[in-house]
Formats: sequence, C-alpha cells, structure tokens
Amino acid sequence: MLLYIYINTAILTLLAAANVEKTIFLGPSPLAIPALHPALDDLDLERLSPENGMLRTNLNASFPTADKTGTESWYFLENLNPGQRYEVRICWLATQPTDFTLRTYTLPQVLEDRSLLSSISAYSSARLSAVAQSQSQKILTRSRRGTPQDAATSDSVLFLQIVAAAEYFSLDQALMENVPSVLADIILDPFLGNVFPRSLVPTGCWVTVVAVLAVLVARWVAAEFGRLADSVDTRLSAGGKKDL
Ligand SMILES: *[C@@H]1O[C@H](CO)[C@@H](O)[C@H](O)[C@H]1NC(C)=O
Repeated sequence: MLLYIYINTAILTLLAAANVEKTIFLGPSPLAIPALHPALDDLDLERLSPENGMLRTNLNASFPTADKTGTESWYFLENLNPGQRYEVRICWLATQPTDFTLRTYTLPQVLEDRSLLSSISAYSSARLSAVAQSQSQKILTRSRRGTPQDAATSDSVLFLQIVAAAEYFSLDQALMENVPSVLADIILDPFLGNVFPRSLVPTGCWVTVVAVLAVLVARWVAAEFGRLADSVDTRLSAGGKKDL
C-alpha cells in the first residue's frame, strides 16, 4: 500500500514535470517600503510570499506577434529573505498548450525601465477594471489593505513577470482568434540550505528510501545465494564421499 502511494507520487511528479516552467533567483536586499507602498498598493498585484507561496489563477495568453512574445501578467513577491535562493514554478495542464517565460525584476529595475512600468500599469488597470465589475471582490481587496504588513519598514521584494504564449494550431477559427485563459498554479518555493527546493524534499526522501531498500534487498539476495551455494557445496562433497 505504502509502496503504491510512493509509486503514484513518483508518477504524478513526472507527469507534473512535463508542464512546469520555472525561474531561480536570490532574495534581493531589503528596500524601504513606506514611501513606495501607496503606489504598490494601488497596483494591487496579486502577492506571493514564503508564508503564502501558492496561487491558483487564470492567465491571459496570446499568440506571439512580431513585437510581442505573448501576454504579460505581473505578480508581486514579498517578505523574501535577502540572499536566500528561491524558485518560482508555474504548473499548467497539458490540455492547454502554452509557452511560459518567467522573469523577476527588482523595484529599481522596474522604476528605471519605461516599458516594464507601462506593462505593469496596463496589466494592473485591466485587472482592476475586472475586479471593479464584481463589487464583492472589491470589498475583499479593500479590506486586505491595512493589514499589519503596512507597518513594515523595509522588505525584500521582487516583481514577477509571466509571459504566456499560446502554442497550438486549431481549425476552429474562434479558438485561433480568442486564446482562452490558462488555469495555472504559481508556486514560490524557498531552497533548503540554498540547494534543494523545499517542496521537492518528499521526492528526494523517496529516492533515498528506494536506494536504501535496494541495498538491503541486494545484501539479502547475496546472502541467500551464498547460503544456497554453501549447502549445494556440502551436499555435493557429501555425495562425492559416498561414491568413493
Ligand atoms: C484578460 O482577457 C480578458 C478578455 O480578453 C480581458 O477582459 C481582461 O482584461 C484581461 N485581463 C488582464 C489582466 O489583462
């Protein structure tokens, strides 16, 4: 039963790996947030932090054109540990063939680059207008402002850009003109000791368990063979003596 669960986990991990894209980065040095905070809050990007590291979301996608590689979505990574290694993964279904590109930008990088700034504000206003259509959601967003986090004096933060390019061909004209949004999980994962992604540790342990089991089984088999060979030997030599 346990083995069955282990094998299942392994297969699921392999399947998931078929549709994972990721980026690895270090937590940047902390920046004083209070001055920038109102502007960041107005952007109202969805946030990921080590404490709250998973987000299930729908991302808009489009076919690549001459001047755009796809549709850009923006997220805000906060409460990072400066110098700590992290990865952000995106996992999506094989039934929605999409090419994702993930990049992270520091606050100064974004503030210095006009095209990044305009991409973020375009995404933010499209998102805000969608949110405005649903009043209840707006209240939720409002009430989230003014959490104790506002008191933070400085924080290690990054902007996460996800570019989604559709990667299919269909005879269905509607599907070629309007690319459906892609359901995906975005996962922020700290590395343990800056070496190993935390959420992959169960897989690592599983590999160790299998390796240890394999060694034990091999030793047992070798010992059994040794005993068998010994008993055949004694029987043969006993038989030989009788013949004499
Ligand atoms: C995603 O696409 C829909 C439909 O085209 C659009 O209404 C919406 O504003 C887009 N969302 C973002 C964040 O760009």
